[in-house]
Amino acid sequence: MSDPTEFPVPEDWAKRAWVNAQQYDEAYKLSTADPEAFWAEQGKRLDWIKPYTKVKDVDYTGEVRIRWYYDGTLNVSANCIDRHLPKRANQTAIIWEGDDPKDDKKITYAELHEQVCRLANVMKAHGVKKGDRVTVYLPMIPEAAYALLACARIGAIHSVVFGGFSPDSVAGRIQDCESNFVITADEGLRGGKKVPLKANVDEALKQCPTVKACIVVKRTGGNVAMQSGRDFWYHEETAKVSKDCKPEEMNAEDPLFILYTSGSTGKPKGVLHTTGGYLVYAALTHQLVFDYHDGDIYWCTADVGWVTGHSYIVYGPLANGATTLMFEGVPNYPDASRFWQVCDKHQVNIFYTAPTAIRALMREGEAPVQKCSLKSLRLLGSVGEPINPEAWLWYHRVVGRHHCPIVDTWWQTETGGILISPLPGATRLKPGSATKPLFGIQPLIVDAEGKVLEGATEGNLCIADSWPGQMRTVYGDHKRFADTYFSTYKGRYFTGDGCRRDEDGYYWITGRVDDVINVSGHRMGTAEVESALVAHPKVAEAAVVGYPHDIKGQGIYAYVTLKAGEEPTEALRKELVQWVRKEIGPIASPDLVQWAPGLPKTRSGKIMRRILRKIAENEFGNLGDISTLADPNVVKDLIDNRVNRD
Ligand code: PRX
Repeated sequence: MSDPTEFPVPEDWAKRAWVNAQQYDEAYKLSTADPEAFWAEQGKRLDWIKPYTKVKDVDYTGEVRIRWYYDGTLNVSANCIDRHLPKRANQTAIIWEGDDPKDDKKITYAELHEQVCRLANVMKAHGVKKGDRVTVYLPMIPEAAYALLACARIGAIHSVVFGGFSPDSVAGRIQDCESNFVITADEGLRGGKKVPLKANVDEALKQCPTVKACIVVKRTGGNVAMQSGRDFWYHEETAKVSKDCKPEEMNAEDPLFILYTSGSTGKPKGVLHTTGGYLVYAALTHQLVFDYHDGDIYWCTADVGWVTGHSYIVYGPLANGATTLMFEGVPNYPDASRFWQVCDKHQVNIFYTAPTAIRALMREGEAPVQKCSLKSLRLLGSVGEPINPEAWLWYHRVVGRHHCPIVDTWWQTETGGILISPLPGATRLKPGSATKPLFGIQPLIVDAEGKVLEGATEGNLCIADSWPGQMRTVYGDHKRFADTYFSTYKGRYFTGDGCRRDEDGYYWITGRVDDVINVSGHRMGTAEVESALVAHPKVAEAAVVGYPHDIKGQGIYAYVTLKAGEEPTEALRKELVQWVRKEIGPIASPDLVQWAPGLPKTRSGKIMRRILRKIAENEFGNLGDISTLADPNVVKDLIDNRVNRD
């Protein structure tokens, strides 16, 4: 029997969920017909210090202006903690599961309040003020959540840098936003291996004169250098200060955080999110997409270094008074059943992970899943890249035991929260489709000229109108914001993704249409990897493209031209891979390197990436028009010498 191509909404789900099919249709209509009314109502899910009277002020043309709830004031940490205390002081806010299965911890809302206040007071004592940028470079430990919320409490803007990034990447991000305070740990622990976070910070800070102080959490107890007057132990500092800290009154449009993300050109951009709209949107989508009800145990496996960790480990769940699980480790340590053991141990009801993890675990067979009960699981989620139907069906059958709906959630760092996703009580599922837009979201599919395509079609995905969780600017470069997102198709937000819409109005994301590749759900700009490669003294030129990879979704394929006289040896290939790891971080390591005596260029000198992509994809039978190339012979050489990836 072939696998089903559609899965109806289970009856019990339609009954118990916050939203059923009819409610979805009605609310969607209202939300797009009268966005002001819809979002005015949604804003009430937060506690405002001064309630807003203005809801929306958006102009996608010209300089581009996006404001929501812009005369209201509030504090995000008060919304995520203080307002829950009367009812939930003793409820677990965070379940922490360590890298070692013997390590775990539960933090109640009352404890969270104390920890966040203490850290906020430490920052204040060190002179951190509203509007200052604080860089957070931490492993997945509760202090990561405390750090975000403590910044929010005093109105400092956090910039979290993923623990897998190199000292240079950390330095670049600190310099870009002129951060003056860093929060890190001695070492991280992942899959039994130590990550030298403090040593990386020391290296980075050599290039960062703006940083006045660095707070260090003792995680492993490893030996680290502490620079007197600059470096302070977290446990010592937090013990010195009061356990109460009044939340700062913030305007809805005051910045909450910056998160750097890769684009098709240049350095990573500092995506800026603000206070009110972001939290409304994170809370709404967390509640509806995951159908969160009081008492549910919710686990998102992302790292807090990515937007998924911001919106769906910390802000969305805590704004909703949820119990959120935070996992320090990796899916295959100590063995391939770790995820499922954690689900059983903490009785997880809602589990949200990435297709790359599902594919990697699928390769281990069913036994590691079957030995766990997984009875507590009710809903599964996927995020970060398109999920292939095979992985979807495995997830549904083997992990979800046929009864858990899967929410395939499409969104981006820029969108702040999920934009296209099934609602489990409302949406019939099709494996591989992110299905339908959430409330207030109006997707458009346009052709290369920007003409809006109707009905069943395929093209580039834009969004017609704003939603409160949308990014507001690129930190320090508003023009880059307008140019990157609103100039390709005038007056519309362009996502950079390709998309198909089927006859039922379901959306199928086909992947990036720009020079961004998606490696294991992480965005990487090809330009960044290229500039790391050409920084090597032996490299003359480099071009980087993505190619299909069984586990990672896309792998990184680098074509490298060496300087005259340099030998293309295996040792040099390894050296270049190490070089990129050092320059950017392990996630940017090229999977395949091809020595290219020449690159295909137009007569005006532009590299024709389309051709390089096809060769990397092993589709060189159909290269299209190569007549505009300056030297068509280079193509034959590239094909003959392509790297065999099997
Ligand atoms: O290409 C889309 C892909 O990930 C990109 C956004 O990456 P990032 O900003 O790092 O955020 C990842 C987590 C939200 C998108 O442009 N993407 C994300 N989710 C999906 C997806 N592609 C297909 N299906 C998804 N569910």
